[in-house]
Amino acid sequence: MAVAPAYDYLLKLLLAGDAKTGKTCLLIRFTEDVFHSIYISTIGIDFKVRTIEVDEKRVKLQIWDTDGQERFREISQAYYRGAMGAIFVYDITNEDSFKVVDQMLSVFKEENPHAVGMVVGNKCDLENARAVSSEQGQSFAGERGCLFIETSAKDDVNVEKMVVDLVEAILSRREGGE
Ligand code: GTP
Repeated sequence: MAVAPAYDYLLKLLLAGDAKTGKTCLLIRFTEDVFHSIYISTIGIDFKVRTIEVDEKRVKLQIWDTDGQERFREISQAYYRGAMGAIFVYDITNEDSFKVVDQMLSVFKEENPHAVGMVVGNKCDLENARAVSSEQGQSFAGERGCLFIETSAKDDVNVEKMVVDLVEAILSRREGGE
C-alpha cells in the first residue's frame, strides 16, 4: 500500500554569511524557537529540518548552516548544489559582515543562477550600535535581485517571516515555470 508523503515540497535552503552574524541562532530560533546566548562556533556543516505550511502546501525544509569561515569557498560548490534558496546573513552592527555578503552572493549566483537569494540584516535589536542602515540593505538586495529583511534571533523578530517569504518566492517561481 502506497503511503502518502508527509509533505508536498521538499526544499533545500542554505544559510551563509560571515562568522558570528547569528546564522546558527536564526536556525535554532526557526527550528526550535529558543535563543541561547552562547554557541560553540559551528564546526563544518550542519542542517536542521522543519515542515511548515505555506499557501496550503506542506513544505519540508532542509536548512544547511555553515561556519562562515575561510572554508566557505572550497565547500561552496558542493554546498550550493541543489539549493533552491539561500539566506545571506550580515550583522547590522558590523559593516564588514555586510561586505562579505556581496562576495558570497557572487559565488552563489555563479553556481546556482536559478535559486532565490535573500539578504538578511540580523541583530536588529542592537539599534544603538547600528552600522548598516535598512536602506543600504534594502537597496543592495534590490540591485542583486534578492529579497531583504531585518531580523533579531534574540528577540524573535521576523525569523519566521524570513523563511516564509523565501519559501513563497521559491514556490511562485516554480509555479511560474521560471
Ligand atoms: P559562526 O558559526 O561562527 O559562523 O557564527 P554564526 O553566524 O552561526 O553566529 P551565532 O549564531 O553563533 O551567533 C554569534 C553571536 O551573536 C552569539 O554570541 C549570539 O548570541 C549573538 N547573536 C545572534 N543573533 C543575535 C541577535 O539577533 N541579536 C543579538 N544581540 N545577538 C545575536
